[in-house]
Amino acid sequence: MNRLRLAVLISGTGRSLKNFIEHIDDGRLDAEIPIVVSNSQDAKGLQYAEMHSIPIRIIRAEDYKSTADFSNAMFDCCRLSKVDLVVLAGFVKLLSIPNDFVGKVVNIHPSLIPSFCGKGYYGNRVHSAVITYGAKISGCTVHFVDNEYDNGPIILQKTVPVKEDDTAETLASRVFEMECIAYPEAINLIAKRKTQIVGRRVKISP
Ligand code: GAR
Repeated sequence: MNRLRLAVLISGTGRSLKNFIEHIDDGRLDAEIPIVVSNSQDAKGLQYAEMHSIPIRIIRAEDYKSTADFSNAMFDCCRLSKVDLVVLAGFVKLLSIPNDFVGKVVNIHPSLIPSFCGKGYYGNRVHSAVITYGAKISGCTVHFVDNEYDNGPIILQKTVPVKEDDTAETLASRVFEMECIAYPEAINLIAKRKTQIVGRRVKISP
């Protein structure tokens, strides 16, 4: 079977992109990255694409009239690169998913969806909200993307404890360690064709 071709979409530091590249390099992720796309020229994570000679495209939402037009440009780019899966890795813009990409776009969110997610929940805001609420566990969720923020069928979730003395930063770093395991694991399941979307649920075959 051919390796899964990923478009990785980033807005910020690209820590998940770095993690994918490391996993691919040592054979733990059965994929290749023919294109990295960012909605910002200033995204720090673009350095990882440059370092590994991965082609980069900048597609800025400000250059388009609507979410639909922005999304068309984004998915045209993905079609051109012949990708199998679009992977949102700290990508903060809303997309409308065209029919040919339904079930082919994934996201990771640093909480246990449906808690502490949706518009405005990104970065340390998520972890501050978890601590303020008094939750005892948090974690991360990998899910297929639909047309709403942090929505869509869940592929897998992993949990971490919330400790008494946690700050948003300490909790964020514990959750991110788990993200580094969860996201490649989910992509490997897709690469091995073990996921099947049934309504809101994702069936995982053994
Ligand atoms: C990750 O923690 C990811 O879970 C989160 O952004 C971080 C990566 O961004 N994504 C979301 O919050 C999506 N709703 P970075 O690479 O810019 O640090």
